[in-house]
Amino acid sequence: MPPVADARYAARTARMRPSAVRDILRVSSDPRVISLAGGLPAGELFPVEEYRAAFDAVMAEQGAASLQYGVSEGYAPLREALADRLARLGVDGPPARLLITNGAQQALDLLGKVFLDPGDVIAIEQPTYLGAIQAFDQYEVRYLVVPTDDDGMDVEALDAALRARTETGAPLPKFIYVLPNFQNPSGRTLALARRRRLVEVAARHGVPIVEDDPYGELRYDGDHLPTLHSLDRHQLVIYVGTFSKILAPGLRLGWLAAPTDELFRTLVLAKQPSDLHTAIAPQMAVERLLGDGLLERHVPLVRACYRERRDAMVGAIGEHFPSDVAHTTPHGGLFLWVTLASGVDTGELLVRALDEHVAFVPGASFHVDGSGTDSMRLNFSSEPPDVLREGIRRLATVIAAARDGRAAIAVP
Ligand SMILES: Cc1ncc(COP(=O)(O)O)c(C=O)c1O
Repeated sequence: MPPVADARYAARTARMRPSAVRDILRVSSDPRVISLAGGLPAGELFPVEEYRAAFDAVMAEQGAASLQYGVSEGYAPLREALADRLARLGVDGPPARLLITNGAQQALDLLGKVFLDPGDVIAIEQPTYLGAIQAFDQYEVRYLVVPTDDDGMDVEALDAALRARTETGAPLPKFIYVLPNFQNPSGRTLALARRRRLVEVAARHGVPIVEDDPYGELRYDGDHLPTLHSLDRHQLVIYVGTFSKILAPGLRLGWLAAPTDELFRTLVLAKQPSDLHTAIAPQMAVERLLGDGLLERHVPLVRACYRERRDAMVGAIGEHFPSDVAHTTPHGGLFLWVTLASGVDTGELLVRALDEHVAFVPGASFHVDGSGTDSMRLNFSSEPPDVLREGIRRLATVIAAARDGRAAIAVP
């Protein structure tokens, strides 16, 4: 049931749904519940003291300017510092085409606003980021669902679908939305050969790519792979990033690198009526932190912590889960993906899991076509290793009981 029903509301509200993750977080706020459901970065790692010092310095040095209205594009020194940093990570482009947004989430919303009319098609991997589905749904789109495997999006399947559309005169997707690194929710990474092929396929069909990359810097093993943005020779890749996972999500600071001046100007026009601009004082504080080299010191700490947590979760799964349960072993990011062979619906399993004081997100939430009911997303960033191990132990009991048909699982 759509959450709103007033006949005076716009048709798009019928597609606005509460996030399953937020609902589950509410249910799992009971302190006895071990939540593997959220996607929260570890709060104990946030550089609170450094941020306080930077904020104090901003107030002392910038005073009223830090509290005044600012430009919609973002605080210019932050855009310059960010452009330098991104160039080192393989995302070249002038600061002039970097838009500071209210988190990566706003970047997705603005892209929807600029590209999507009701009935338009976009290509997505499945499963995909729930917040993106929410952002694009409100523009009343249809989805071209591209299958994925352990190497990420199946680019040949995408190519075949785009060819078929061209042959039959069906409209091409307005863009391809893809998460190349440690995808939320699956933890999978798009293989290098597929990255090259994806930019080729996009160029051949003239379809832009939205590259959403919040986790690229959180790699725990293996080599950094080039961004799609750096492989693109046709100005088709729009790169979206964020400070949420490498610094702190409450800052609400993200960005978007537009491949052309024209798209950049249009996105600025789309942002203005949304919020005029992103808050200035946090931008100034983060610019100071970048200048002080905080991220060079901080990101390795985050990586080390999450690597240990991933290892704890993967180890506990190996020890406790029934052997017919498959899971990904991500090389980075915050999540791994579990697939049950037993035919048990993970939406129903969650009810029993909450009784056992453990929570996860059922996989169907990350699908647009009702599939994925045999899967679940597990988060390993927000609890310490011993809690993760206990959470997995509880979950293993629930999975095994459901599989063996011993549990009478109540359907809500
Ligand atoms: C894939 C993906 N894109 C975007 C976001 C939104 O990030 P932000 O906090 O920068 O809005 C998230 C947050 O979890 C995410 O996982």
